[in-house]
Amino acid sequence: MFQARLTATALAARTCLHGEISAKGALADAMRYATAGGKGLRGFLVMESAHMHGVADDRSVWVAAAIEAIHAYSLVHDDMPCMDDDDLRRGLPTVHKKWDEATAVLVGDALQTLAFELLTHPIVQGAQGDVRIPLIRSLSVAAGQLGMVHGQALDIAAETAATPLTLDEITHLQAGKTGALITWSAEAGAMLAGADTKPMTDYATALGLAFQIWDDVLDVEGDAAAVGKAVGKDAGAGKATFVSLLGLDAAKTRANDLINDACDALWIYGARADVLRDAARFVIQRDR
Ligand code: IPE
Ligand code: IPE
Ligand code: MG
Ligand code: MG
Ligand code: MG
Repeated sequence: MFQARLTATALAARTCLHGEISAKGALADAMRYATAGGKGLRGFLVMESAHMHGVADDRSVWVAAAIEAIHAYSLVHDDMPCMDDDDLRRGLPTVHKKWDEATAVLVGDALQTLAFELLTHPIVQGAQGDVRIPLIRSLSVAAGQLGMVHGQALDIAAETAATPLTLDEITHLQAGKTGALITWSAEAGAMLAGADTKPMTDYATALGLAFQIWDDVLDVEGDAAAVGKAVGKDAGAGKATFVSLLGLDAAKTRANDLINDACDALWIYGARADVLRDAARFVIQRDR
């Protein structure tokens, strides 16, 4: 059930997003390239949490497309030589490798602004009051100086820090770079319905941390062909991760505990949240 829903929402979000790319030439080609081939987990979280709150897919898909655009922009910039300097993403050359660095900067810029354009689509508006401004505002915060970008800045700074980060500092870093967009995705479904976002916030805060722990585990244990990106890079680059601080076994235990917390946070929805619970378990079983 979860896998089928993930596949369907990923396709729907990508189709919506690609339908709104109106640039021409290399920029448009690179924007489509950068937004293909991912798991689509953030868009899934938007659409499944929206569905659970009674919101139709043809409305939530615009919000799913928006978050996948922001996520793809973050990856294009994350892979650039000035950041993680990676050549492979989703099993293919990174944008700056296939095109050039200027194109990679511009693709990120264009995807970021396109995300906010998508959120203004009339269908996103709610029947009981317009939720578009709250969505745009909250995504600005989640993606920006106190959210994903903040986490990325801490991640880069940690590479050259004089002393290793503490557990609290790593938690804060990862809550920003990865957690903020994942949390926003789950909250957005409730926001579309005008519902209380608290259970979704609790679910996705735990899920987001577990997601990044598993990304760090895959960097150590993963198979590059399956993961679709280079592995074994974090330690060499001096990245501050749960794995670097706690070791593999304790990091996995922490991820498992977080997934249990995430599932428990959904108690109020009963069986209606089973697909989201399966998504949580998938996060710490995935091989890519
Ligand atoms: C990778 O995210 C970057 C992190 C935040 C760890 P994903 O693992 O969701 O990447 P795609 O979208 O599936 O390629
Ligand atoms: C990237 O984290 C997070 C963002 C792009 C915001 P990583 O640097 O660990 O992601 P990968 O491993 O390159 O996908
Ligand atoms: Mg990085
Ligand atoms: Mg990276
Ligand atoms: Mg990583």
